[in-house]
Order: sequence, then C-alpha cells, then structure tokens
Amino acid sequence: MHFLTDSSILIDGLFNRHNLQTVLANPKYNTGLSEMARENAISSFGNKIYLKGLIEFTNYCKNSCYFCGLNVNNANCSRYRLSKQEILSCFKTGKDFGINSYILQGGDDSFYSNERIVEIIKAIRRDFKDPSLTLSMGERSYESYKSFYEAGLKGYILHHESHTLEHFNMLHSDDVSLFNRLNSIKNIRQSKLYTGCGLTVGFPYQTLENIADDILYIYDLAPRSVTVMPFIPHKDTVFANESSGDAELVFKVISILRIMLPKAIIFSHYSLDFIHKKGVEKGILSGANAVTLSLAPFKYRKKYNLYTNKIAEKDSIYKSYEKLQLLAQKTGGEISTDY
Ligand code: 5AD
Repeated sequence: MHFLTDSSILIDGLFNRHNLQTVLANPKYNTGLSEMARENAISSFGNKIYLKGLIEFTNYCKNSCYFCGLNVNNANCSRYRLSKQEILSCFKTGKDFGINSYILQGGDDSFYSNERIVEIIKAIRRDFKDPSLTLSMGERSYESYKSFYEAGLKGYILHHESHTLEHFNMLHSDDVSLFNRLNSIKNIRQSKLYTGCGLTVGFPYQTLENIADDILYIYDLAPRSVTVMPFIPHKDTVFANESSGDAELVFKVISILRIMLPKAIIFSHYSLDFIHKKGVEKGILSGANAVTLSLAPFKYRKKYNLYTNKIAEKDSIYKSYEKLQLLAQKTGGEISTDY
C-alpha cells in the first residue's frame, strides 16, 4: 500500500529523467510497478502472450561491438548461413505450431544484399500466405528499408545500444557511430516499417542515468516492439570479465516501459532465464507480453551465441514450445499466435 500512496506522483512524473532515476535506484517501487505494469498489459492485450517464431539465419557480422559474441574479431565463433531453402523450412516448422508472426534475425552480414533479402521476403510471402515478418540484421539504408517494405516486410528491429554518445563509444569501436544508428532507426520509421527497438540492462559502464535516457528515447520513438535484455558477458569479447545485468533491474525496466507504452509488444527475452531461474516468467509478470520460439535447426541454434557459450541449448523445438505454453499458464496467460 505504501507504494500506492506515492505511486500517482511517480507515475505522473515517470516521464522525466530525474524521476526515472529515482525509481530505478530504489527497490521499494519494484512490486508496485510490476503490478501496475501487469494490469496495463492485461487491459491492452487480455491474457494473451504472443508467440513469434525466431529464425537466426546468419551469425556472420562485419562489426566489432565489444559486447557481442558474433563480433567479427571472434575467431572462435563457428560461422553459418541458412540457405533460402533452410529458411523456408523453418517457416514450415513454425506453421506446424500455428505461428503466423516471425523474426528473421542475423548479424550485419553483407552477403545478404538487398536483392537477396527481397527475394527471401517474396519467397516467404508466396509460400506461407503472407505471414507477419520482421527482420533484424543491423543498419541498412533508407532505400533498402523501403525496398524490404515494398516486398512485404512488416517490421525491422534495430537496437540503439545507448543513447549517450560517450557510453555508446565505450561499447563500440569506430566502425559504428551513434549518429548513424539513430539515423538508421529514423529511416526505418520513414520507410513505413514498424520499428522494433531494444535496451540492454547492465552493459559495462552503464549508469542509471544512461538507462533513464534510453527509456526516454524509446518513449519518444513509440516503437511497435521493445526487447529488454540483460547484459551477459561472452568469453570471447572485450567484456569477458564483466558481470551480468541485474535481473530485478531488467524486470523493473520492463515494467516502466509497459506503463509508458501500454500498447507496445514487449518481449520477455529468453536470455532472462540465463540470469534468473524464472526469468522469462517474471518478465511476463512484470508486463511483457511476447515470447519467441527459436526455429532454426539445432546444429545452427547453438552457434548463434551472442552471450556466452556456457549455455548449450538442449531442448527440441517441440519441448521449447511446451515449456512456453506451461509458462504462459503459470502466469495466468495463454499463448496466442494471432498478432
Ligand atoms: N548481452 C546482452 N545483449 C547483447 N546483445 C549482443 N550481445 C549482447 C550481450 N553480450 C544485444 C545487442 C544487440 C542485439 C542483437 O543483442 O543489443 O543489438
């Protein structure tokens, strides 16, 4: 009850940096925020937890982001690309589970020229009755986004990583710039694609002020989807010895974003289970309303390793699907494939 007495002040004032920092810093708000966020999610989406098929189709990447296991300098990363046929067969698997919404995700891989991507989008639409399709493979030009949209792509996910220039530069070498990243996100919006964005909690050198600014940036962007994930160190990166993001802080950021963006798709990302034994479940109870099912063949899935190679995926796709259904039930929700 104590939370509720001052919650209206905080919720009204959540939309400024100072109040966000106060709320992020103080655990006394955790329970009240997650309850309020869950109520918001239910009033926007009922008890539905949206299931999206995730196809990790290439782990080649030309960038050298210090935090990511797919960075170009990681000689221990065994690289793969799915052929068009293999991608289509992932859609076939997804369809068997009734899935109609998919995310094709990969590194920033120039092998996939715009023409190749357009060809893949068209083949998927032709063979699978126009499913909802989102792509995520780094920065592309406005013209590329537009050609993807015209080919039938619905959305594009691009994470800004940090809205604070100094911090952004601590996470990347000179091959990427915050200016280009933010511009690229604007181009996604202008191309008419839905914008998906993300926020990694616990990045090295990240302060609560940085997170507050990231949240405000995302609020202004008003994206269709947001993925909130914890930082998890990868042994073959510059940040190998840094610590993982704090689970409670990730849950709290999910709740704040749900309260600020009541209609957004907010993912309870599978990586939450790597830092908390009920991570994905708690993500949903904190206001998230979507989960993913990885559809790439097992031999590739274990190679798509952004974080660490301690975690080897063992479950079959069917088993993972069952687990997601169970998890949804535990939160009083129900898996839905129709968004
Ligand atoms: N920990 C958490 N998030 C990461 N990402 C990449 N590596 C890590 C990591 N070690 C996120 C980044 C990137 C997205 C594909 O995954 O936000 O944009």
